[in-house]
Formats: sequence, C-alpha cells, structure tokens
Amino acid sequence: MSRTIAITGKGGTGKTTLAGLIVGGLIRAGATPVLAVDADPNMCLDEVLGVRATQSVGRVREKIRDDAAAGISKRTLLERKIAESLVEAAGFDLIAMGRPEGPGCYCYANNILREVLALMTRQYPFTVIDNEAGLENLSRRIAPAVDLLVLVGDPSRRGIATIRRLYALAREMDVRYGKLAVVVNRVRPASAFRPDLSDLPVDALFTLPEDDDLARWGEEGRSLLEFPGDHPAARRIDAFLKEQLGVAIRGAA
Ligand SMILES: Nc1ncnc2c1ncn2[C@@H]1O[C@H](COP(=O)(O)OP(=O)(O)OP(=O)(O)O)[C@@H](O)[C@H]1O
Ligand SMILES: [Mg+2]
Repeated sequence: MSRTIAITGKGGTGKTTLAGLIVGGLIRAGATPVLAVDADPNMCLDEVLGVRATQSVGRVREKIRDDAAAGISKRTLLERKIAESLVEAAGFDLIAMGRPEGPGCYCYANNILREVLALMTRQYPFTVIDNEAGLENLSRRIAPAVDLLVLVGDPSRRGIATIRRLYALAREMDVRYGKLAVVVNRVRPASAFRPDLSDLPVDALFTLPEDDDLARWGEEGRSLLEFPGDHPAARRIDAFLKEQLGVAIRGAA
C-alpha cells in the first residue's frame, strides 16, 4: 500500500522542516524508499534532505513541449524526464516541481506534476509532499490521493486563525484527504499554548516545540537526515508517525 502525506500551512512556519523530519522518521522506521516531493516553486526540500535537485518538473516542461513537437509520445517523454529529474539517495528519492521557465503559467507545471505523481506514488510506500504556503497545489489536485493532510501553523492567534481559514478553504475547494492533522510548530518550551480546535474535525493536534538544534540546523543549511534520531524533536515525529500512520520505529517500544 502506498500512502501520501501532504504538508501545507502558513508561510515560514516550518512546513519544509516538518517534511524533512517526516522523511527522516520514515527512513528510521524502514518505510523506504520514501518519495519526497518538493511542490514549492521556491525549492528548499533538497537542502533539508542534503541533496541537490538540479532538474525540476517545471524546467522539464519546456523540453517536453519541444520534444512533443518532434513526435515522441507524451507518456514516453514524461517517463524519460522523470528519470532525468529524479534525485536518488539513500532511503528516499526526490522530485522537485521548481518553477516554470519564462512567463508561462504555473498550472502547466502543476499538470505535469500531477501526471508524474500519478505514475510514481504507487511505487513507493510513502510519498511526502512539501507544498508552498496556502492550498494552491492541493486544490489543483496534484496528488492522486492524500491520506494525511498536515496543516502547519505557528503558536499565535493569527496562526490559529490561518489554520481555520485554510481548513475552510480546503472544504470550499473540495480538497480530498483521509486524515487531517494540525501541527503547531515552534511552541516555546515554557508555554502552555494549546489552541482549542475542537470545532474542527481534526484527527490530530500536534505541537512541536521551538528547538535550538532545529533552528541551528536551519541556520547552517544542514540536512535534517543527519538530525539525531534520539533527539526529542525526532522522537516527537516518530510518535506522530506512529499515531497517524501506524508507522513504528523498529526495535522501539
Ligand atoms: N521547531 C522549530 N524550532 C526552531 N526552529 C525551527 C523549528 N521549525 C522550523 N524552524 C526554522 O524555521 C525556519 C523556517 O522553517 P521552514 O523553512 O521549514 O518553513 P516553511 O513553512 O517551509 O517556509 P516557507 O513558507 O517559506 O516554505 C527555518 O530556519 C527552520 O530551521
Ligand atoms: Mg518551505
């Protein structure tokens, strides 16, 4: 069975960090290979995973147009281009959407990404999609099925208001998902912040503390796959994956 986790939410609240931590947690659990998808045109997931995505689906688009003019079937081209842009690494593969070249429309890159994901996700037990802020990508249904939708916000009234707005938007745009989790990130360790979202059908409300090591990893641009698995933040992610997806770390109680 292959399952897809899509992460979205407010800008700058830790979506990419969470995506990196989740990929790390899945690798720790041996749920590999993971397909990591950078669906944010402002590509960052590669750095967080310690690899370099030089080709992106957005760039590939231009080439597909040229080659299609030469009469090669679109499916063959797509498969060839996926092979060109896929970054293969230990425990995961990464594919990035990037941004379309020139003044083109992002819908086209999204369309390509949708086709790419339809072809690819079933080959992986888990797909983790890091989205840009908002619900643009998801509303365009880039993923064939989202099993776990994660909305990330910050611990503030405005952050929680944004979560509510995103939820309303997801309903309005008929975004389909299996489970819904809200992650409130960067909660100060001394704070008792726990928003009341009981009026929303949220399957999990999860908090991740503000953490000096995570901040430092970000400052230094280090791969979160090097983040220690026994670090409290990594342990929180393991608990999250176990609760929400039934993924357990081997050997852990
Ligand atoms: N729990 C945390 N504790 C400390 N720092 C964190 C934590 N989570 C994320 N950060 C830091 O916050 C910054 C923003 O995180 P990140 O890039 O993951 O956010 P984002 O939501 O993906 O942003 P964008 O909307 O631009 O895509 C990074 O420098 C990251 O290292
Ligand atoms: Mg990001």
